[in-house]
Amino acid sequence: MPSTTPQPVIVIGASLVGLSAALCLCSHGVPTIVLEKHSGKSQHPRAIGFTSRTMEIYRTLGIENKDPAPEDFKLERAHVQSLTGKWNDNSSWSDTERRPKAEKPREQSPQTSTPKKQYSVERASAIPQDKLEPMLEALALERGADIRRQHRLISVDQDQGGVIATVTDADGKEQKFRGSYLIAADGNRSTVRELLQIPRNGRGHMQTLSSVLFRAPLEQWTKGVVQFDIEQPDLKAFLASYSDGRWALMFKDAVDRDESALRDTIYQAVGRSDFPLEIITTGRWELTALVADTFQSGRVFLAGDAAHTLPPNRGGYGANTGIHDVHNLAWKLAAVLSGKSSPELLNTYDAERRPIALLRHDQIFVRADYNVHLDTATPAGEKIDDDAMEFGQIYLSEGLIGADKSLPRAKKPDEWNGQPGTHMPHFWVLKDGERVPTLDLFDQGAWTLVSESDQWCEAVSSINETSSVPLNFAHVGESVQLMHGDDFQKSFAVSQSGAALIRPDGYIAWRAKEVPSNPVEMLKKVMAKVSFSTSGP
Ligand SMILES: Cc1cc2nc3c(=O)[nH]c(=O)nc-3n(C[C@H](O)[C@H](O)[C@H](O)COP(=O)(O)OP(=O)(O)OC[C@H]3O[C@@H](n4cnc5c(N)ncnc54)[C@H](O)[C@@H]3O)c2cc1C
Ligand SMILES: *[C@@H]1O[C@H](CO)[C@@H](O)[C@H](O)[C@H]1NC(C)=O
Ligand SMILES: *[C@@H]1O[C@H](CO)[C@@H](O)[C@H](O)[C@H]1NC(C)=O
Ligand SMILES: *[C@@H]1O[C@H](CO)[C@@H](O)[C@H](O)[C@H]1NC(C)=O
Repeated sequence: MPSTTPQPVIVIGASLVGLSAALCLCSHGVPTIVLEKHSGKSQHPRAIGFTSRTMEIYRTLGIENKDPAPEDFKLERAHVQSLTGKWNDNSSWSDTERRPKAEKPREQSPQTSTPKKQYSVERASAIPQDKLEPMLEALALERGADIRRQHRLISVDQDQGGVIATVTDADGKEQKFRGSYLIAADGNRSTVRELLQIPRNGRGHMQTLSSVLFRAPLEQWTKGVVQFDIEQPDLKAFLASYSDGRWALMFKDAVDRDESALRDTIYQAVGRSDFPLEIITTGRWELTALVADTFQSGRVFLAGDAAHTLPPNRGGYGANTGIHDVHNLAWKLAAVLSGKSSPELLNTYDAERRPIALLRHDQIFVRADYNVHLDTATPAGEKIDDDAMEFGQIYLSEGLIGADKSLPRAKKPDEWNGQPGTHMPHFWVLKDGERVPTLDLFDQGAWTLVSESDQWCEAVSSINETSSVPLNFAHVGESVQLMHGDDFQKSFAVSQSGAALIRPDGYIAWRAKEVPSNPVEMLKKVMAKVSFSTSGP
C-alpha cells in the first residue's frame, strides 16, 4: 500500500558508523531514525586516525578538516626499550618485515626526486573518535536525524513493504519502529547480524590485550612519534597517543594489574616516574579480523564493524572502511526511496563493498605489524601500495560498465586513468572563476557527464527530460577550466570527443573513449543500466 509520508531508514547503533550513516542519509534528504542501546558515549576515545578518503567524504558533508596531517606525513612507530631509554628502530605501515632502518637499501630511484603525487585535496586527520562523534551527531541532528538512546534492538522483521525493528526502551518497555530499510551499524557483536544468522570468516580472534587509558605529559620525550612498541624482558606493550594528553598502553600479556601496578607499569614504559599521571579507565581489547559472508539480507544492510571487524592498523582500515560503506549505501537508498532508481541498485552495495573489506583484511597480514599473526586462513599475497589501497580500490558491480575481474583490485589513481569502477581522479579546476577540486564538483550527490566535446550536450539534455534520474553536464574547457597543465584526455584516457560518467559518490560508472554515432541512444542505455532508473527508454 503506497503511503504518503516516506518510511524512514532505521539505523541501529549511534557510534562512528551509525552517525556517519545518519549524516549521509539526512544530507540526501532521507528521513532517518537512529536507535542506540547506550545512554551515553564510550569512555574510551578508540580510533584516532582518519584517512584522506574519509576526510574527503566528510568534506562533501560539510565537515572541515581543522587539523590536517603534514603533507609527507607517515605514521611511524618507534621500537623502544622505554620512552626515555634506548630507541631501537622505527617502522612504517608499508614495511613487510621489521628491520632496522640502517639496514635498508638507500632508495635512489629517480622517483624520489620527482614531487609526490597529490591524490587528494584532503589530508588525513588525527581526531579522537570521542571528539569526532559529537560533531557528526550535531550535524546529523541539524539535518533532521531522529536519534534515540537507551533503545536496544531485540528483533528485526521484514516483509515486502519494509522492516520492523523491535526495541526495549529505558523503562524496559517494548516499542516497534517501522522503516523502509535498516542499516546495522551495531558493531562487532552486531545483534542484527546474529539475528539474521549471517556467518563471518577470516583470521578470527588473535589476541586478548588489556589496556589502560591515562593522561600524562609525555610529549616532551616522544620526538613527535605517536606510537611505540615497548620492548623489555618483563614488559611487552604498545603505547599510543591520542595527541590530546591522553595515552593508551596495551599489554600483550594476560596479567591482572591493580591501580598501583598499572602506575608502576606506565612508569616502566616511560622509563621514569617524575610526571603527573591520571588513570582514566582500563579495558580489555580483542584483536579480531572477521568479514561477514554477506552485507545484505533483503532490506537489511550491514555496515562498519558489524560487516567487517578489522584490527586497528596504521592503514586506517578499521574505522574508516565503515564510513566508506555508508557513503556508498546512502545515495543508493536515497535514489530508491525517491523513486528515481529501482531497488536492484541496492544489490550493488554488497557487490562493491564486501571485496573492499576482504582485500583490506588480507593486506593487514601482509604488513610487518601483523604478519606474526598470519595463518593458513589468511594467505600472504602481495603487498599493495598504500596510496592504491586508499584511493584506488576498484568496485565491480552491475552498476558499472567496463570494469571486470581481469583488472587488478587496486592501483594508484594516475595508473587507473579514469578506469570505470574507480573514484574520479583529483585535480584542480576553475569553475565560475573559482579554483575548486574535482571532488567539490562531482562528488556531491548528482550524476554528471564530463567531456571536452559539446557533442554530448543534446544527449544529456534528452536524458534529463526523459529519465527519472537527472544528469548534469560538465563541459571541460567551457563551464569547467583545467589548471596546472592538467590534461583531461590523459587523466581519463579518452579522446577529445570522449566522456566519463560520474556517479553521485564520485565513482566513474562508464567511459566512452570517443563519441559514438548515436550518443543519445548510447547514453540512454548506459544510464538505464548504471543508475537503475525507473523511467526512460
Ligand atoms: C578500545 C578500542 C580502541 C580502538 N582503536 C581503534 C583504532 O586505533 N583505530 C581504528 O581504526 N579502530 C579502532 N577501534 C575500532 C573502532 O572504534 C571501530 O572500528 C568503530 O567504532 C566502528 O564503528 P561502528 O559504528 O561500526 O561500531 P561500534 O563503534 O562498535 O558501535 C556500535 C554501536 O551499536 C550499538 N549497539 C550494539 N548493539 C545494539 C543493539 N542491539 N541495539 C542498539 N544499539 C546497539 C553500540 O552500543 C554502539 O554504540 C577501537 C575500538 C576499541 C573498542
Ligand atoms: C625514529 O624517529 C624519530 C622521530 O622522527 C627520530 O628522532 C629517531 O632518530 C628515529 N630512530 C631511528 C632508529 O631511526
Ligand atoms: C568481536 O566479536 C567476537 C565474537 O562475537 C569476539 O570473539 C571478538 O573478541 C570481538 N572483537 C572485538 C574487537 O571486540
Ligand atoms: C538537468 O535537470 C536538472 C534539474 O532537474 C537541472 O538542474 C540541470 O541543469 C539539468 N542539466 C542539463 C544538462 O540539462
